[in-house]
Amino acid sequence: MRDFKGKTAFITGGASGIGLGFAQVFADAGMNIVIADIEAPALGAAVAALNARGAQAIGVECDVGDRQSYARAADRAFSAFGKVHLLCNNAGVARTGQTWEIAESDWEWTIGVNLMGMIHGLQIFVPHMKTHGEASHIVTTASMAGMRASVAGGPYTATKYALVGLSEQLAKELAETNIGVSVFCPNNIRSNMPNNGRNRPPRFGGPIDGKTDIHAAEHIAVMQDRNRAGMDPREAGLRVKKGIENDQLFIFSHATERSVLEDRFQRILSDMDAAATLGSQGSLLK
Ligand SMILES: NC(=O)c1ccc[n+]([C@@H]2O[C@H](COP(=O)([O-])OP(=O)(O)OC[C@H]3O[C@@H](n4cnc5c(N)ncnc54)[C@H](O)[C@@H]3O)[C@@H](O)[C@H]2O)c1
Repeated sequence: MRDFKGKTAFITGGASGIGLGFAQVFADAGMNIVIADIEAPALGAAVAALNARGAQAIGVECDVGDRQSYARAADRAFSAFGKVHLLCNNAGVARTGQTWEIAESDWEWTIGVNLMGMIHGLQIFVPHMKTHGEASHIVTTASMAGMRASVAGGPYTATKYALVGLSEQLAKELAETNIGVSVFCPNNIRSNMPNNGRNRPPRFGGPIDGKTDIHAAEHIAVMQDRNRAGMDPREAGLRVKKGIENDQLFIFSHATERSVLEDRFQRILSDMDAAATLGSQGSLLK
């Protein structure tokens, strides 16, 4: 998709951080903006600020992990602007800790927002985009945690790898259409991510308060220091817009971890070579 003017972007998690950077960049490109976000006060403030800059923006309170809530938000977008051309699957959360210690409810929360949020978006918007037939694009915010293991925790890594895989799958399935697919793998962008537990819904245990949850407090302090030095989210938005224009499947914010990826791919290939030395026809069977 190279033409943005007059088209509509639907951005999940657009009330803060990277999603808000997307909203600003795509509004500046002349798009109508729909922000779907769970945090009502931040949502209201984001939409007011965008419209004060001359944007055509609406906000819809939505929990992307809840299919009905997502469907209601999409209906609001259709009634406000008719067609949606750019889907930004961006809302995401993390819960740190040892994989085997993280509560099942936190696994479900993270999988619900990060993975089911994308699936709900695809099931609603891909048929819609195919029906209206105009050039469209789907960009999903994964993470460098979708490229290599991370300190952000098992549920985060598992879901971000899933988003990368699902985007690669989707690109194959939509190859013959005019719907482009990208997966954004940011490294460190200034946002409210370190305090993402603020939005854990009551059904998963409610907001995580850094003061009462020691584990969260430690994590928040470390992440906040790192995050303060991160890239401006509007810069991230501009890089994503360029990646969409170039029809890139992978969009990276930084190139700093190239050697980490090379090591990972090398390890995969050398472990595959170990299989090759055994031959492909079960040579360990006597
Ligand atoms: N900031 C970084 O350095 C970084 C790095 C890699 C990946 N990411 C990814 O970027 C995306 C955006 O995060 P961010 O860093 O801007 O953090 P952020 O906390 O500033 O923004 C996330 C937004 O998602 C919303 N949200 C949370 N749960 C939701 C739900 N159930 N339904 C709808 N909206 C919900 C929040 O209210 C918030 O507005 C996430 O997917 C995150 O995993 C961020």
